[in-house]
Amino acid sequence: MNNFEFYSPTCFVFGKDTENKTGEYVKKFGGTKVLIHYGGGSVVRSGLLDRVKASLDANSIAYIELGGAKPNPRSGLVYEGIELCRKEKVDFVLAVGGGSVIDSSKAIAAGTVYDGDFWDFYQGKRIEEALSVGTVLTIAAAGSEGSPDSVITKEEGMIKRGASGDAIRPKFSILNPALTQTLPPFQTAAGITDIMAHLYERYLTNTEEVEVTDRLIEGLLLTMVHEGPRVIEDPNNYEARANIMWAGSMAHNNMCGVGRSQDWNSHNIEHELSALYDCAHGAGLAVTMPAVFTYVMSHNVMRFAKVAVRVWGCQMDFEHPEVTAKAGIEAFRHFLSSIGMPGNFKELGAREEDIPKLVEMLCRGDGRDGTISGFVTLNEKDCTNIYKMMV
Ligand code: NZQ
Ligand code: ZN
Repeated sequence: MNNFEFYSPTCFVFGKDTENKTGEYVKKFGGTKVLIHYGGGSVVRSGLLDRVKASLDANSIAYIELGGAKPNPRSGLVYEGIELCRKEKVDFVLAVGGGSVIDSSKAIAAGTVYDGDFWDFYQGKRIEEALSVGTVLTIAAAGSEGSPDSVITKEEGMIKRGASGDAIRPKFSILNPALTQTLPPFQTAAGITDIMAHLYERYLTNTEEVEVTDRLIEGLLLTMVHEGPRVIEDPNNYEARANIMWAGSMAHNNMCGVGRSQDWNSHNIEHELSALYDCAHGAGLAVTMPAVFTYVMSHNVMRFAKVAVRVWGCQMDFEHPEVTAKAGIEAFRHFLSSIGMPGNFKELGAREEDIPKLVEMLCRGDGRDGTISGFVTLNEKDCTNIYKMMV
């Protein structure tokens, strides 16, 4: 196991009706003037926004609002939010929504107190300072409610990039599983896929002897395999939603990723798909992961065989471990299809003729040197082959 430091100070407030405590928590973390940021309107329709506002009112906290964050959130609204926060002297950004709203809120929080262009952070500059951020989560997926990351798409060229820094870790996140019951089944499934991707990205490691985090990851993956179909079958199953929601936060606050190298090639390859086609990130991952795993399997067959046996219940073939490894990837592919995720470019809405463009964006965009690195280093030819496997 590698040396590590683990700092995860987000206060998680979990359970039924917890959104009614929002005002209390904003106050606890020093907010006096809040920007409530939300998305395309689901929180208005569900009445959640009104409940959050009532809670702020009850705690005498002033607020302004900015809606309109899109899935795969855009830079344009971030600039608008920054201007608004400066003009209105906002000191706390409250995200009410999913990963896209949270990421947009984080970008606004960092950009407001920064003299330069906020996009600098999405080109590698670490975020050291930001307004405080809090969240009321409405979808179990991205894990942004406990992560130090934000992913934004720049409209010019539709470039999707991430930024990072402990300053944007939410001070608190309110997790009421009942709020996710209004999700369309496709979004629920895309969220399940993203959570599993965050676990796999950490499982694919080159670090030896990391049994404790391997076991945590396997446990969370098993939970998703059990609870995913239950919630697809019955969207109102609160207990299944609760297990998925907490798994989503644990999958990405890095408690499962410490002390080990991680992959993230699938995410990088996917981000170009959601940037170009504006598809759901989880749906893009459903198409990407089986292809990436098959392509890189030979790098460490035993790692893939291990997850195949421990999570997917495959029989270990000691003479031919690659058979076991492959069976695990196929079981995962089958699972994704069973919850309604796309399995190829066509089902995702992607086009084979765009592959050169995707590879160019992925390997050369923003000054990259022609490769991406993770579990293995992939060059332009590798990435082309992987995208072709998804067709
Ligand atoms: O915009 P509204 O109207 O709220 O509708 C949203 C949106 O259309 C809807 N929705 C959310 N909660 C709902 C609901 N509809 C009904 N009832 C509810 N309770 O669902 C749609 C998708 O929402 P979005 O926020 O985009 O989903 P998600 O949480 O999957 O976030 C995806 C974004 O997160 C980024 C992705 O790249 C993508 O841009 N990621 C962020 C990460 C991070 N910051 O740590 C890590 C992830 O790997 C990921 O890359
Ligand atoms: Zn993800």
